[in-house]
Amino acid sequence: MKNIAILTSGGDAPGMNAAIRAVVRTAIYRNLQVLGIKYGYEGMINGDFISLNAESVSGIINRGGTFLKTSRSARFMTEEGMKTAYDQLVKNNIDGVVAIGGDGTFRGANEFTAKYHIPFIGIPGTIDNDLIGTDYTIGYDTAINTVVEAVDKIRDTAESHDRLFLVEVMGRDAGLIALKGGIGSGAEAILIPESKNDHHKLFEKLEKNWGRKKNSKIVIVAEGEPGGVYKIAEEVKKKFRNYDTRVTVLGHIQRGGSPTCMDRVLASRIGFAAVEAIISEKKDVVVGIVNNKINYTSFKDAVKHIDEIDPQLMEMMEVLSN
Ligand code: F6P
Repeated sequence: MKNIAILTSGGDAPGMNAAIRAVVRTAIYRNLQVLGIKYGYEGMINGDFISLNAESVSGIINRGGTFLKTSRSARFMTEEGMKTAYDQLVKNNIDGVVAIGGDGTFRGANEFTAKYHIPFIGIPGTIDNDLIGTDYTIGYDTAINTVVEAVDKIRDTAESHDRLFLVEVMGRDAGLIALKGGIGSGAEAILIPESKNDHHKLFEKLEKNWGRKKNSKIVIVAEGEPGGVYKIAEEVKKKFRNYDTRVTVLGHIQRGGSPTCMDRVLASRIGFAAVEAIISEKKDVVVGIVNNKINYTSFKDAVKHIDEIDPQLMEMMEVLSN
């Protein structure tokens, strides 16, 4: 194999640049040529390729976002789009593709590689941490640190005014950002889609704590929680009129910013291992880290929905938030 291409696709995540840097530098060290594909699969279809060298990835390990840019490509999910993308790869003599992204990126890679025989290697880059085959996805650690920092600030107002804040965090249909963000910020409760009946539990808690002195409360609500944060806030306001209730939606601040050291190291390790995987002729797998060891998972398995959260963590959250 002589030429590889690299792209980032789907939502950007802090640490994607660190992963690109690791792939490019390892590939060059191993005598491979690297092309960058701009705007993910959309750029693959459009032939938006740039050549990359060791210098092109200087000074990016600390930068959030992705310097290759990204998109969510609807065209790539069509037969015609995939065929055009394949023709572009052939035209540019690409022997293998490294795709950095999440769920949607790997679904695309899975469909593409079932039809066209150009090997793909996936690198898990998403703040959601919702992929099988890696303990952590690149971007998750930075995102949960951003959540904790933001909630610490909200806590100042909650305490000063004895308010109840419902803070919505990202995660698509997964509650992992809410879970760790909630534990780390000492939230009084978390509402996540994986846990059934948690609205009811929240109401019980508020009822029970009614007479307690400490009235400031933080409830972290995953964006995938049924009903959504505003509807839940309405219910809370109706049932608990004495609480001064507010909603804060953290939104895209969770996707931005300089990656934490954990994310930079994770991205470097996985990026390095991705090139080694290509050289050893592995194909159509996502590279992750499980129990501190490099792990390979098929695209199909990587995107399976995780619907159970470690019950011990949930129990601990309950005990500590009392
Ligand atoms: O997958 C990352 C993520 O930030 C999710 O947590 C969120 O649901 C989604 O992307 C938001 O996507 P967009 O930026 O396209 O609105």
